[in-house]
Amino acid sequence: MLKLGVNIDHVATLREARYRGRGFGEPDAVEAARICEAAGAHGITAHLREDRRHIQDRDIWKLREIVKTRLNLEMANAPEIISIALKLKPEIVCIVPERRLEVTTEGGLDVVANEKSLTETRKKMNDAGIEVSLFIAPDEKQIEASACVGSQFIELHTGQFAEEFQVGSSRRDDRTAREDARPTKELKRLISGAKQAYSLGLKVNAGHGLNYENLPALHQVPHLVELNIGHSIVSRAVFVGMERAVKEMLALMKNYRP
Ligand code: PXP
Repeated sequence: MLKLGVNIDHVATLREARYRGRGFGEPDAVEAARICEAAGAHGITAHLREDRRHIQDRDIWKLREIVKTRLNLEMANAPEIISIALKLKPEIVCIVPERRLEVTTEGGLDVVANEKSLTETRKKMNDAGIEVSLFIAPDEKQIEASACVGSQFIELHTGQFAEEFQVGSSRRDDRTAREDARPTKELKRLISGAKQAYSLGLKVNAGHGLNYENLPALHQVPHLVELNIGHSIVSRAVFVGMERAVKEMLALMKNYRP
């Protein structure tokens, strides 16, 4: 069964827009995590950024207390955050690149150029009982290097796929047409990246830019274990509530055949 990890960063983004630096405020990202789990999410994802622009330290410690499924800490490969992760002990960390000007994580990690330091971090995490995922573009060399790092998972960056889908779908007028659509260039890259990673013994997650419209097309990618989805679920929740937003996403995922 394809699992759903809900990324709750954007709940914290909304809170910080009003209450930045106050140590309290609404909406509460931790309460959002509770509702997501109760609605059937298989995991909760939060990104403790070095600049603390959305999730704060107090959030991740509370999340650690209440998350009953799996806590996935997204993090930069940076000493301060590594030491927090080792104390926090999430079930899994997903290492992502961080650039100060981006709104969310925009590009994949350059594992090829950072193989040595990522291997060191991977070892520290695994020694503490924490699994490791690397957020990468569906690029042959990056996938090979991820296997060399010894990471348990990769998370394939679906941002480019989401962009292409948007451009393509604006020319089509019904949902069925979109589901039947022939693979775009980026979808083909995701399909071959997933196959390559699987053959190298890596478990394959995917995320970034996934939404209720483009998700059916992603079913063509084999070997997926978990999707990490944030923005579209939080956006939908503004209108229908978090519980329904999560359930609707799970319903779209349930026919996935790996
Ligand atoms: N996966 C990773 C590694 C991310 O950094 C993010 C957030 O940018 C997501 C998944 C979720 O992306 P989105 O909010 O677009 O669903």
